[in-house]
Amino acid sequence: MSETQTAAIILAAGLGTRMKSTLPKVMHPLAGRPMISHLIDTVDQIGAARAVCVIGEEMEGVAKAVAPRETAVQVERLGTGHAVAAARPVLGDFAGDVLVLYGDTPLITADTLEAMLAMRHSAANPAVVVLGFRPDDPGAYGRLVTDAQGGLLEIVEYKDATDDQRAIDLVNSGVMAIDGSVLWSLIDRVGNDNAKGEYYLTDIIAIARADGRTCAFVEGDEQELLGINSRAELADAEWIVQERLRRYMMDSGVTLIDPATVHFCHDTQVGRDTVIQPNVVFGPGVTIGEGVTIKAFSHIEGAAVAANAQVGPYARLRPQAMIGEGAKIGNFVEIKKATVERGAKVSHLTYIGDARVGAEANIGAGTITCNYDGFLKSHTDIGAGAFIGSNTALVAPVKVGDGAIVGAGSVVTKDVPADTLAVTRAKQVGIEGWAKAFRERRAAEKARLAALKNKS
Ligand code: UD1
Ligand code: MG
Repeated sequence: MSETQTAAIILAAGLGTRMKSTLPKVMHPLAGRPMISHLIDTVDQIGAARAVCVIGEEMEGVAKAVAPRETAVQVERLGTGHAVAAARPVLGDFAGDVLVLYGDTPLITADTLEAMLAMRHSAANPAVVVLGFRPDDPGAYGRLVTDAQGGLLEIVEYKDATDDQRAIDLVNSGVMAIDGSVLWSLIDRVGNDNAKGEYYLTDIIAIARADGRTCAFVEGDEQELLGINSRAELADAEWIVQERLRRYMMDSGVTLIDPATVHFCHDTQVGRDTVIQPNVVFGPGVTIGEGVTIKAFSHIEGAAVAANAQVGPYARLRPQAMIGEGAKIGNFVEIKKATVERGAKVSHLTYIGDARVGAEANIGAGTITCNYDGFLKSHTDIGAGAFIGSNTALVAPVKVGDGAIVGAGSVVTKDVPADTLAVTRAKQVGIEGWAKAFRERRAAEKARLAALKNKS
């Protein structure tokens, strides 16, 4: 590790018109957070001392998303060189290494940035290190013109390139590591006399060489350098991020039976020896302990599941669901803002919201905590070892004591003391022979009507 400090300038003033969105492009999410936040995270990982995002006007949302990292506003969009210059009032003089990144190219890894910085500090002391790559289709990317020794001579934009230069398959990703002590001197000399009439950041290569400095490049992986300009590319990037998360989970000891069908959030935490069956979706803020089984088709967000619990199939855990050790949440069960303590079972067709379910309690099929009166939410407290019969409505606020039993089909509106049986349904009556007499009466009536119809 070198002692030199690093700053990052992230270019994000582009409007992203091809996204056809009211949201700035860099705010579109990947794995549950804005793409710009992925870059901020990567910049944090390499320990960058400073980061300045260059944004357009009316992009306060982006400034908020990257805070406490700083932002600079580029009012007119006059090219990538102009965009880097817009960071100057915020970054000021910075003698360390300056990385230039693109907000819409968020998949770049810390390893790649480290490799660029290592090249920056190689013996030749290049003023600029460019991240190049060789895509299947070099398209309209800028071309890296190199010498036989692997030095970088200049970058030529596609529109300005000759046919020979267009035949070069090594292209500019846009990512650069620049010697901060000369950055502004280089940027000051970038003009706009070119095919696009823009201030090209890429011109700093030739300018640095004219100053007698060398420039270099490192080669990156095309997948990491995917730029997002459309919803289709956003989906491609989501796939890559999900594949990374799936691989990370499996490497940390989590079994994914059909990885491609499991969708994680950037912050999902899963303990080892947990098994995740197919078609499970994680929203933000989920922590799953060790040895848990998440069965197929479950949807989990903002929830914590302790060790050895079982969830699903078809379970929905919403924010602030806390599932205790060894507890069981079965099919078509929704849990919201509720604690289900150790060993409790909520096995079928149930809604538990704003509640506590005590340890080892058993909640019968079709139980509902009636937590909302149309205005306010109220709490239901179910004690340890309680047994709630099927199809019970618990009208909150209400308390069922430890070890109490509620008879099936009850509507519980008053507290149930510990170890008490509560039943609220009407008493059952039995009339002997009634069913048989009923059937005979109705059969005779049906026969009489059929005979009448045949006559007419
Ligand atoms: C740029 C490079 C090209 C490279 C390509 C890789 C230049 C001159 N060209 O071309 O060599 O192959 O990226 O994708 O640098 N931006 C601003 N303000 C501006 C202009 C751009 O913030 O005034 C931001 C955009 O939001 C975007 C990034 O900079 O994130 C790149 O801009 P873009 O217009 O896409 O550059 P390209 O023409 O594709
Ligand atoms: Mg572009």
